[in-house]
Amino acid sequence: MEIKGFGVEEWLNENEKAAQFDISQSTISSLTLGELLNFDGQDSTEAFTKYLNTKLNYGWIEGSPEFKQLVAQLYKRVNSKNILQTNGATGGNFLTLFSLLNPGDHIISLYPSYQQLYDLPKSLGVKVDEWDLEEDLNWQPSLDQLQRLITPKTKMICLNNAQNPTGSLLGKPLLEQVVKLARKVDAYILADEVYQPVDKIDQFPNIADLYEKGISVNSLSKTYSVPGLRIGWIATQSEKLADTFRKYRDYTMISGGVINDTLACITLRNRKAILQRNGKLVKNNHEILKRWVASQPKVEIIMPEQVSTACIKLNIKMSDEDFCEQLLKKTGVLLVPGSRFDMPGHARVGYCTDTKTLEMGLQKLADFLKKCA
Ligand SMILES: Cc1ncc(COP(=O)(O)O)c(C=O)c1O
Repeated sequence: MEIKGFGVEEWLNENEKAAQFDISQSTISSLTLGELLNFDGQDSTEAFTKYLNTKLNYGWIEGSPEFKQLVAQLYKRVNSKNILQTNGATGGNFLTLFSLLNPGDHIISLYPSYQQLYDLPKSLGVKVDEWDLEEDLNWQPSLDQLQRLITPKTKMICLNNAQNPTGSLLGKPLLEQVVKLARKVDAYILADEVYQPVDKIDQFPNIADLYEKGISVNSLSKTYSVPGLRIGWIATQSEKLADTFRKYRDYTMISGGVINDTLACITLRNRKAILQRNGKLVKNNHEILKRWVASQPKVEIIMPEQVSTACIKLNIKMSDEDFCEQLLKKTGVLLVPGSRFDMPGHARVGYCTDTKTLEMGLQKLADFLKKCA
């Protein structure tokens, strides 16, 4: 099986530990274990005593009943039976694609977005058509193009909502049109929904609620600030689909681990308070980014939703890859070159890090840009 290197992951693996001012990441400033336990009102010593006595067996295979219940509450039409815990959203996407696609199938993927959603299916022998996000449409795709691409044989449409790296959101009216088209040809819709906007999360149009063949993939890695737990999930209305995933899941993952499941439940139980903390941070940093771009003659942006990823356009002669390499070497500031998302001339800014790092990183970036032709 041939597979293309994962652009953004390769870049981060190579460079993130060298960064002094990391404004490249896509998580809302990660919580420490102590902060997480504090949200739950747990005394750390007592919590650790409890963990010391926890048997490190496999735990609940599909995720604990509490986990499944807490996740099901995030949807209107999903029964907790149809929630399956996965190893992050990456695990959820993988399980969906691996379970449902065969060589020779046709799918359509939003492009560019999370590379896993198009290059993994390609490696499985699937024909992938790209549904383009257009800068001229404020990083939205056009429905006309989707209508042209879809055929009676289309098996799946893959979406990333909100989208990495632009932070643009596919709204409910557009999604309803996509569902209409998919329903006509009986296609699945997989939506990677890890970047739900903090300010609109309770009205977020989950694909699993909108469509009987919709598969919502999500995790605690971005909006909930605990990527280190490696806990995600798949949610669907369809029992039949959940059973299919169960079958393949047994071959790819046993469980998420007892400690991680416990901490995931703590995160979900304290969801409101974590979202409140994150809402404040994102709003504040969003303003800082907006003001900074307005002061930069060589930078443009289509502002993201209140999600933890943004994409700037660099009006300079140097390639984005060379620019980001030099920037890191000379200033310690880390961005992700747009080419890693097939978006040359751009760069990802992970502006939802702690505010001080963002401000210092942007200041150094501004100084460096002044020296670029
Ligand atoms: C769209 C998207 N999905 C999934 C992931 C990975 O999520 P997880 O940590 O839950 O595996 C990322 C991380 O960058 C992402 O951008």
